[in-house]
Amino acid sequence: MTVSSAPGKVYLFGEHAVVYGEPAVPCAIELRARVEVTERSDGKLRVHAEDLSLDGFTVEYGGSTAGRPDVNVSESLVSAAMGYVDEAIGQVRDVTDTDDAGFDVTIESDIPLGAGLGSSAAVVVAAIDAATRELGVTLETDELAERAYRTEHNVQDGQASRADTFCSATGGAVRVEGDDRRSLEAPDLPFVIGFDGGAGDTGELVSGVRQLREEYDFASDTVAAIGDIVRQGERVLEDGDLEELGRLMNFNHGLLSALGVSSRSLETMVWSARDAGAYGAKLTGAGGGGCIVALDATPETETALSFTPGCEEAFRAELAEAGVKRLE
Ligand code: PMV
Repeated sequence: MTVSSAPGKVYLFGEHAVVYGEPAVPCAIELRARVEVTERSDGKLRVHAEDLSLDGFTVEYGGSTAGRPDVNVSESLVSAAMGYVDEAIGQVRDVTDTDDAGFDVTIESDIPLGAGLGSSAAVVVAAIDAATRELGVTLETDELAERAYRTEHNVQDGQASRADTFCSATGGAVRVEGDDRRSLEAPDLPFVIGFDGGAGDTGELVSGVRQLREEYDFASDTVAAIGDIVRQGERVLEDGDLEELGRLMNFNHGLLSALGVSSRSLETMVWSARDAGAYGAKLTGAGGGGCIVALDATPETETALSFTPGCEEAFRAELAEAGVKRLE
């Protein structure tokens, strides 16, 4: 049996603008997916998942999603989760040259599914790492991130950025600009996350911004302005000035709102965090619903958020220094 874990992430700066070649700074957070893998001799893949903010599910199949038995969660969530694990195992078979390798895979995760916190990337990174090690192969972090990216790319019909998988594999704060990816020095970042219980449709939100850019000059200028904030934010991150970081997060949020990717619940949570004394707050990820991230100055932000109408869950999540962790 082999066990790996990998963290989720928030965007400190730069989502949406990253699609147009601007830099972005995602940060790994101490919420993890843990994947346990045991090799099977019959070449089958059996997946058991618990705590994926679902009721838990178990499925067994011979390497494709066809012929799955009945399960007690929504069909679309199961298909999505199975699609990721199936493809991740495909990458493992490819990189280890073992077409007929089979596995029992057990997934546990603290990361809410589909909420913009990188849950699928964390599961994929941990699964590839554990399954390759189960076969006696330890991947370098870059190769692990690359295989995890290919998994997301294939499952999401070519619509995946490298940010989530790279951030989850390496941990810490990272900078992503096109194909260029690297780690940044960062102080402890006291994040508080507010989750409205929903999720936006990433594809729709990304194409909404694309249309806006085609129609209005202000939208291209806004994307470029987000790029400027990210470049400034990187320098401030290295200086460790949380107050200035918070101010830049607020600017970044305002620009994302101008691009039409915020929502009433996200705005309410952002303002509640600011009113409670957070250094700054912004939506994280595609927007439209899902999560905000606040940089906490006081212990009050989490409590204030938990009483905010429309906020389903509020929790603290420190910056995760480590990416993938090899547990057993
Ligand atoms: O919601 P997430 O965590 O999948 O982030 C989406 C980030 C976007 O910049 C909106 C899209 C992308 O692929 O970079």
